[in-house]
Amino acid sequence: MNKARAVSPANIAFIKYWGKKNPQLNIPFNDSLSMNLDRCLTTTTVTFAPVLSEDRVIINRETVRDTRRQRVTEILDAVREKAGMKLKAKVVSRNNFPTAAGIASSASAFSALALAATKAAELNLSGKDLSILARLGSGSACRSMVDGFAWWKRGTSSQTSYAVQLAPPSHWQLRDIVVVVSKEEKKSSSTEGHEGATSSPYFKTRLRKLPVRTKRMKKTILEKNFEEFGTLVEEEAIDLHMIAMTSRPPIFYWNEGTVQVMNKVRQWRKEGLRGYFTMDAGANVHVVCLSPDEVELNRRLRRLPQVVMTIVNQPAAGARLL
Ligand code: DP6
Repeated sequence: MNKARAVSPANIAFIKYWGKKNPQLNIPFNDSLSMNLDRCLTTTTVTFAPVLSEDRVIINRETVRDTRRQRVTEILDAVREKAGMKLKAKVVSRNNFPTAAGIASSASAFSALALAATKAAELNLSGKDLSILARLGSGSACRSMVDGFAWWKRGTSSQTSYAVQLAPPSHWQLRDIVVVVSKEEKKSSSTEGHEGATSSPYFKTRLRKLPVRTKRMKKTILEKNFEEFGTLVEEEAIDLHMIAMTSRPPIFYWNEGTVQVMNKVRQWRKEGLRGYFTMDAGANVHVVCLSPDEVELNRRLRRLPQVVMTIVNQPAAGARLL
């Protein structure tokens, strides 16, 4: 039987992918940097079988028929074309983090799918080609294909836009505390955010500033210069949300909890607890810190009234077969 199973992590972007130069191919305007999260995983099993008359997609025990299935089918079509095969597939995907937490992760989902589907189709793709395939499903997924800290080079075509490793997971004992402040599903998808990004009057300014910021951040990661790294991470997060809030129509991802956590993290820093915040396209906050401050930061975060739960992550390997 043509069956394979893969597990893959979500990732947190330190330099964000925001705005698509080519929306069909998910080719971004800018390079991005991220770290894989060891406690936010998707496991996906793909089975190609002659008995199936259409692709069946089951996500967290629910059979889906909406755009989610469409996006999965597009990746399966790409795999079928590469493998010269026509069989339909059953795709069963499950997250290990609570579904209700509002951590939707297209990155873990599409990287696990790319790996499981190609293996089930008996294709042996290179790391580069797997990253490209994952990117076609969801841009940020290309970064979950590599181990540890990833650098997605924007490239100029589908074949040149993929992620490479910046440093392995063991390089730096960085922690990412995911602070869940909202269980509601977000009102605007990141795909909508990407669409609106270029309408912000500040988008061009951001693009001009990014090459220097990205270069500096890569250096701070490689040299493990935490203070400067954290400062850049916050600067970048505020930049992304400023673009979202000034897009037409504007998108506000933050809620009261988001603002409360940001304020507290800055206040605690003055008291000597070294944490820095970042947010992706949602209300939840990621607090980045080093291992000595992890326990105390996590304790304080969990006590905040708006905080529903936290998930403490270490740097993780990328997608792998089970
Ligand atoms: C804010 O990868 O979810 O998390 O390519 O449309 O699936 P699609 O977008 P997606 O965008 C992620 C946006 C972000 C920043 C990032 O992860 O780099």
